[in-house]
Amino acid sequence: MTSRTPRIACIGAGNIGRSWAVAFARGGAAVRLFDTVPAALERARSAIEATATDLEQMGRLPDKQALLDRIQVSTSLSEAIEGACHIQESVIDDLEVKRRVFRDLDAAAPDTVTIGSSSGELPVSKFTDELPGRGRCLLVHPVNPPHILRAVEICPTPWTDPWAVESSTRLVESLGMVPLKVSREINGYVINRLQYALIGEALHLVGAGYCEPADIDAALKHGLGLRWAFLGPFETSHLNASQGYLQYMLTDEEGARRLMTDVGARYPWNHALIEKIHRYLEASLPVSAMPAHQRERDRTLMSLMQRLQERKGES
Ligand SMILES: NC(=O)c1ccc[n+]([C@@H]2O[C@H](COP(=O)([O-])OP(=O)(O)OC[C@H]3O[C@@H](n4cnc5c(N)ncnc54)[C@H](O)[C@@H]3O)[C@@H](O)[C@H]2O)c1
Repeated sequence: MTSRTPRIACIGAGNIGRSWAVAFARGGAAVRLFDTVPAALERARSAIEATATDLEQMGRLPDKQALLDRIQVSTSLSEAIEGACHIQESVIDDLEVKRRVFRDLDAAAPDTVTIGSSSGELPVSKFTDELPGRGRCLLVHPVNPPHILRAVEICPTPWTDPWAVESSTRLVESLGMVPLKVSREINGYVINRLQYALIGEALHLVGAGYCEPADIDAALKHGLGLRWAFLGPFETSHLNASQGYLQYMLTDEEGARRLMTDVGARYPWNHALIEKIHRYLEASLPVSAMPAHQRERDRTLMSLMQRLQERKGES
């Protein structure tokens, strides 16, 4: 390891912290993984070993031992953050714990070090407001597990400095991940709001006796989820209508509004918004070539389903 190897501190060694450690180490960083619970570090060590084995066997990691050598565990916070250019916090979702951890990190780390929080639900401003170095604190929220899935939400608090956003964005890109820029805080940010809208309706449908839990899982596993594996919800709707998103949303606008109101999605959208989304889609999926886009969707679906079937046979 050279003196130029970037150093990253991962704080909290649970599901997300240990997965971040692998993601950073795969990107070439030297990682120190810290947790207040020694048993959590032990569990993390064996989980990381298993993850590295799987990555290597799946042809996604050239040198398992080199990756393991880049990750050290530590029970000392000061040792963990020494020399780090970025600190990634992934401790439990408890406001007081996050507040305490950020206070300690802010006091100990030089002010050029960015401190990203993995917080899926609590807005980062809730636990950084009183810190002298609050300008370098921000949300850097992955999708579980970040050593495999590439989307990462990056969102400033009202007091985050622009350099901290830029630096964290570049760091995430350097790992081969895909930063999603969220312009301002909202509970659950983007990823969990999308996720919980679906989870909430799934609970309603099962709780009110419309279907069984297995039917909800089947609807996603054998339907919606397969398309969403490679298309976003806007792209999916666009490809569902031969004239694209405008047609999908506005042909039966009243029906669409009724259904959204019924599921609790009450945002009062207007035609200008639908046109903006259509223009965005038109740039990569022009309506003039809709049959070709739909054919490509179908071919990708078939290839994905075939791969999933093969994988089932392997396990
Ligand atoms: N699990 C997910 O799907 C997911 C996805 C994205 C983001 N997140 C976010 O990541 C964070 C961690 O979630 P998780 O699922 O890994 O939780 P987890 O319970 O698996 O791990 C949390 C770890 O934090 C440690 N911890 C507690 N207090 C600490 C302290 N003061 N200092 C250092 N470590 C401490 C615990 O010992 C534990 O090992 C949360 O903010 C969560 O919202 C979770």
